[in-house]
Amino acid sequence: MTFEGKVAVVTGAAGGLGAAYAAALAAKGAAVAIVDRDLASAEAMAEFITNEGGRAIALGAELAEWDAVEKCVRTIETSMGRIDILINNAGGGSSSPGNASSIEAIAPSAWSSLVDSNLTTAFMTIRAAAPVMKRQRYGKIVNISSRSARVSDPKFEQSPAYACAKTAILGLTRFAARELGPYGITVNCLVPGLVLSGPVLEDYWMRLSTERQKSYLEDLALRRLPRMEEIVGPVLFLCGDGSDYISGVSLDVNGGSFMPA
Ligand SMILES: NC(=O)c1ccc[n+]([C@@H]2O[C@H](COP(=O)([O-])OP(=O)(O)OC[C@H]3O[C@@H](n4cnc5c(N)ncnc54)[C@H](O)[C@@H]3O)[C@@H](O)[C@H]2O)c1
Repeated sequence: MTFEGKVAVVTGAAGGLGAAYAAALAAKGAAVAIVDRDLASAEAMAEFITNEGGRAIALGAELAEWDAVEKCVRTIETSMGRIDILINNAGGGSSSPGNASSIEAIAPSAWSSLVDSNLTTAFMTIRAAAPVMKRQRYGKIVNISSRSARVSDPKFEQSPAYACAKTAILGLTRFAARELGPYGITVNCLVPGLVLSGPVLEDYWMRLSTERQKSYLEDLALRRLPRMEEIVGPVLFLCGDGSDYISGVSLDVNGGSFMPA
C-alpha cells in the first residue's frame, strides 16, 4: 500500500493513536498535517516524521471551534495543495475533571467538553474539508469512534458523555457518507476497543485488579489487548485504494467483543 502523492490530515495526532496513524501514513509516502490543540507535542511529532525522512507539518488548533478549523484547512490547502485523507482522531479525555459514570454525577461542563472533543471536532473538520475534497472529486474520511458506542458494559465504569459522543460519530459517518459519496468521497468509521495508546491508559489498565483485567479479556474472543499496529492497519486500509467501494461503514476492531448478526 502506498500513499505517495497524497496529503493526509490527522487530528489529535500529537501523541497516542493519532501520532501512530500519522507516522504510518508518512512512512508510506503521504505528506501529513498533524493538527492538535497541543501545538508543542504536534511540532515534536512532525519533527520526528521529518527526521525519519517523511513530510509533515504541525498546526495548533482547538478543533471544536469553527474559525480555528476553517483557518487550519485553509493553511493546509495553501501549503500542501490538497487534502486527500482526513482522519478524525481527536478526542478521548474520559479522565477529564467532572466526568463520571453516572448521568446524575457528570458535570454539565464535562459533558460539553467531551462532546466537543469527541464529536464536534469531527463535524467541524468534515464541514471545512468537504469543499476541498469535492473540488478534487476525491477524499477518504475516517472517523474514530469507540467500543463504548457499541457495548454498555456493567462490569466497567463507562462515561455516558464519552459513549454518547462516540455513538453520534456512527451517525455522523452515515450522514457524511451519503452526502459526500456522489463526489467520490468515502466516509467510514473505526470502532476500536481498549488500546494502551499512552501513559494514561497504561496506568488505567495497570490499576485494574487482575480479576477485572481477566474479566475484560474474557469478553474478547481473542483474549488479549491489541498492539498499536493492529489498530493502525485497519485505519490505513480505510484510507487506501483497497477500500474505494466501502463507504458508511463502521468497522469494529475489538478482538471480537461486539458481534452483531
Ligand atoms: N486508546 C483507546 O483505548 C481508544 C479506544 C477507542 C477509541 N479511542 C479513540 O481514539 C482516539 C485517540 O485515542 P488516544 O488514546 O490516542 O487519545 P490521546 O488522548 O492520546 O490523544 C487524543 C489527542 O486529541 C487531542 N484533542 C482532543 N480534543 C481536541 C480538540 N478539541 N482540539 C484539538 N485536539 C484535541 C489531544 O490533545 C490529544 O493529543 C480518540 O478519539 C479516542 O477516543 C481510543
